[in-house]
Amino acid sequence: MSKLYIGTNTKMYKNIAQTASFLEALGRQTADLSRESMELFVIPSYTALDRVSATARAAGIRLGAQNMGWEDEGQFTGEISPTMLAEVGVTIAEIGHSERRHVLGETDEMENRKVHAALRHGMTALLCVGETKAQRAHGIADEVLRTQLKEGLFGVDAARAEQLWIAYEPVWAIGVGGEPASAAYAEARHAAIRQALFELFGAAGAKIPVLYGGSVNPENAAALAAQPDIGGLFIGRSAWDAERFAAIIRQVLPIFADKAEGRRRS
Ligand code: 13P
Repeated sequence: MSKLYIGTNTKMYKNIAQTASFLEALGRQTADLSRESMELFVIPSYTALDRVSATARAAGIRLGAQNMGWEDEGQFTGEISPTMLAEVGVTIAEIGHSERRHVLGETDEMENRKVHAALRHGMTALLCVGETKAQRAHGIADEVLRTQLKEGLFGVDAARAEQLWIAYEPVWAIGVGGEPASAAYAEARHAAIRQALFELFGAAGAKIPVLYGGSVNPENAAALAAQPDIGGLFIGRSAWDAERFAAIIRQVLPIFADKAEGRRRS
């Protein structure tokens, strides 16, 4: 894994005009950075997707959706189907963000259906996993992660592993009031995730990028990026200003290049 995977989910912030100007600015701020060494992605609100799709494509920024229904069509009021998302240029389906699991009550079984739907439609499934503060306190973080991965990815063929990205986002680290995980803590969980992916997919599992998310900021990004099992960063608040986001990207790109070079040599 040699690329840096880096992106943002704008949650229920940024209307259409704000998303468009954010993407234009991010495109400008990162125009000189090769996309060969980086997968840059933005996951805005549904209403902005169609409007910003061409801008994102032209800027080499992949577009994701924050959620997705698992059927192509049907009697599912309020859901948006994979075909509808593909129609507006979405190539990444974010699945199981902590706010969807813990605020809106989504289950591992629902995430699993969404993963299969994304894969069936040729999208990247970005499955988010993470333990709560209580689960961490009870010493069961790795068990929770293993369960979310094994339930969420149940029935996925190893041949499809290249369509999977994982985001490790500890619930206690996310959002306003979240405390960022230390680099050492995050690395230990990433190692547990790697082990579960190996059990699921064998060698193909080792190639799945696992991103860290949860209060990433300009102060902690470099230390997180330097960890061997952290394959990228998934950022909320600190990425919503294009200049600030681009500064983080520039900070961590050389760290990933060094890690890739180290792996090539070893
Ligand atoms: P924050 O970086 O604001 O904690 O949000 C992280 C996140 O939820 C990304 O999906």
